[in-house]
Amino acid sequence: MPCTIVLGAQWGDEGKGKIVNILASDMDAVARFQGGANAGHTLVLDGKKIVLHQIPSGIFNANCVNFITGGCVVDPEALVEEIEMLDNFGETVDPRRLKIAENAHIVTRMHKWIDSIEGGKVGTTGRGIGPCYVSKARRTGIRFKNILDGSYKTLFEGMFSECVKHYGLESRNYSDFFEPFEDAIHKVAQFACDTRYILFKSIAEEKNILFEGAQGAMLDIDNGSYPYVTSSNTSIGGALTGAGVFIDFMERIGVMKAYCTRVGNGPFPTELKDETGEKLRQIGNEFGATTGRPRRCGWLDLKLLKESCMLNGFTSLALTKMDCMSGFEKIKAGVGSDSSEHPIFKEFDGWTEDISLLTSYNELPSACRQFISYIEDFLGIPFKLISLGPDRNQTLNMEQKI
Ligand code: GDP
Ligand code: IMO
Ligand code: MG
Repeated sequence: MPCTIVLGAQWGDEGKGKIVNILASDMDAVARFQGGANAGHTLVLDGKKIVLHQIPSGIFNANCVNFITGGCVVDPEALVEEIEMLDNFGETVDPRRLKIAENAHIVTRMHKWIDSIEGGKVGTTGRGIGPCYVSKARRTGIRFKNILDGSYKTLFEGMFSECVKHYGLESRNYSDFFEPFEDAIHKVAQFACDTRYILFKSIAEEKNILFEGAQGAMLDIDNGSYPYVTSSNTSIGGALTGAGVFIDFMERIGVMKAYCTRVGNGPFPTELKDETGEKLRQIGNEFGATTGRPRRCGWLDLKLLKESCMLNGFTSLALTKMDCMSGFEKIKAGVGSDSSEHPIFKEFDGWTEDISLLTSYNELPSACRQFISYIEDFLGIPFKLISLGPDRNQTLNMEQKI
């Protein structure tokens, strides 16, 4: 199984971290290819919850090399904190296990400053992601290459002056912005290298490599609900440009929740603004892993998921949070829309049993299996994994038909 990609099929927070962590056991490498610290991927290991933002979810497999490739935007100060968090957890992150692309762009405090001024309309995570990708597109960005050759200082000064001119920063704040930046980049420079050649060689050697998507298809800058999107290509196309090598993905796995959530603003056709939405939020503990914001909740939207499957060419799906659907008298899923673009729902019988500790598909209540079969038939893509809880052992492997 040489190259595998795992992508969010909805609006992010589908449970990618859990799924990647499970699959990473068999991997030689895990690579992130877009986004940055806007991501919050939760792993539950031995009952302990860990949220990764920039470091790939393969970091807990000691034999796995983790790549942050050129399509990502890296916040060095947040990365130092994340490395310290992992260190406290007993996981040492050294340059053998973490490699950052020389051409990856760097998020500065100026980017976060601009995001705090401009990000409100979209409801961004405030991590400076959009402004950093703007610097990249304007060709004024700072890359890891500039740290290695010492040219970062001039670029930083230029960016700071722009913020003084246009975004109300005061010149006297320079050292508050620059000193923590310089301190952090000196700590993370050791990870910088040309990740493209290492990946190219690993692919040629048929190593098992997993590409870990961040966010989800519906937040893709080109194919999502623009302008309520993130600033990168969260779908499969982003992996090739982001990693900088051709990758012939054998497995393309979409991660989807049994319902929908969205953080931030933008259209959400199946949103539930009533007590059912609140019930989903409480049962699913739907509060952002990065910002702690309550996530908007609603029924599954199969119409949008179909688009996501078309965009990504998924070969299989991982269905998460099925345990959260227990206890609803009726469950709904959007299957289309009427002439006014209002969703058309299909209704399913619910079930009351707690399914979170079940270990085989056949033990699931029949109403639950009917819901799952309907999704599979509607999308025409088989389920590889069905997740019944946050822990890695709360997972049904559908390929073994257990
Ligand atoms: P990601 O960004 O796609 O990695 O997802 P997040 O980590 O932001 O959000 C998913 C949340 O759901 C995390 O708190 C996970 O621990 C949790 N989770 C994942 N799968 C399941 C599941 O099957 N059931 C339940 N109850 N929680 C899950
Ligand atoms: P993971 O990887 C859910 C959303 C923000 C906002 C929009 C733009 O954990 O699934 P940005 O800060 O990227 O400019 O914000 O995208 N968003 C996410 N929503 N999960 C994420 O990541 C997200 N990353 C960004 O809420 O609506
Ligand atoms: Mg998340």
